[in-house]
Amino acid sequence: MDTFINNLPKAELHVHIEGTLEPELLLKLATRNNIKLPYKTINEIKNAYDFNCLQDFLDIYYQGAKVLITENDFFDLTYSYFEKSALQNVKHLEIMFDPQTHTNRGVTFETVISGISRACDMAEEKLGVTSILIMSYLRHLSENEAFKTLQSSLPFKELITSVGLDSSEKDNPPSKFQNVFKASVKEGYIPVAHAGEEGNSDYIWEALNLLEIKRIDHGNNCLQDINLVNEIIKRDIALTICPLSNISLKVVENLEDHPLKEMLQLGLNITINSDDPAYFGGHINKNYQKIQQALNLSKLDIYGMAQNSFKYSFLNDDKKEQYLNDLEVYYNKNIDL
Ligand code: HPA
Ligand code: ZN
Repeated sequence: MDTFINNLPKAELHVHIEGTLEPELLLKLATRNNIKLPYKTINEIKNAYDFNCLQDFLDIYYQGAKVLITENDFFDLTYSYFEKSALQNVKHLEIMFDPQTHTNRGVTFETVISGISRACDMAEEKLGVTSILIMSYLRHLSENEAFKTLQSSLPFKELITSVGLDSSEKDNPPSKFQNVFKASVKEGYIPVAHAGEEGNSDYIWEALNLLEIKRIDHGNNCLQDINLVNEIIKRDIALTICPLSNISLKVVENLEDHPLKEMLQLGLNITINSDDPAYFGGHINKNYQKIQQALNLSKLDIYGMAQNSFKYSFLNDDKKEQYLNDLEVYYNKNIDL
């Protein structure tokens, strides 16, 4: 089964580029940019990655991001994630980035997007992995701050496909960002949002009805409200589920209790993702493997979620069909292994 998962062609739809900063690169960039960190060794870093909730993690994640200064840093970070993804048979990546985490430290929007998008271009050319970018607003900041970020993004609009919402969910409901999402959609960005990770089902309703999102990041708490589950199915929207993230941030106590199987049984469209793989102990294939083992998922379940990863991507229909055909060929060849 692990080999079936490793070789399975797949897309990843929920990964924060800042969350792919592995301890080795963190130390290297800290040295390169002369940034002081509270840790000196890989072991010290790994010991610090012990979280009780989303906020615990975010404090460490924003601290780690401070080592990213130059265009080259953003390139190195992004390209190294593409290399890891290619080895895991990821064919397409939808990458979130948090401009405000950097612009608030004096790094320009242009520096961030230039480094990331240069890596995306090289990855397509050299590794054959396609990608799109999701610019995410930090929800602990004001809507006015998000408007400034939207404005800064406009000269680079052609490089950005989608707009998202992340950071501390509690007390920062989607309704706070209604106007900036409307303006972002007017600029052509496809709206998505983190909702129902720590926030309750009301936040998911708001994200659907006020932000008109086309995909839900996490969305675990939709199970609190069967009417919401049915609405998500009716709208044909997918959830980007992140199993190992859910364990690290104590959204779910252990993988055996993860509601993913129940979600599948209800008819929700589920995808599997890594969220912040450098911090949560595993890349995408480990997320597939661990949840498969914990819930005894079948090859057909795994195949269905890989299909969803392409179907609910923001690729054009031709490209989706091409990827889905390759995946079908793979499944038919490996079904009896
Ligand atoms: N939730 C909210 N914000 C985030 C996350 C997450 O899991 N990862 C990075 N930013
Ligand atoms: Zn996330």
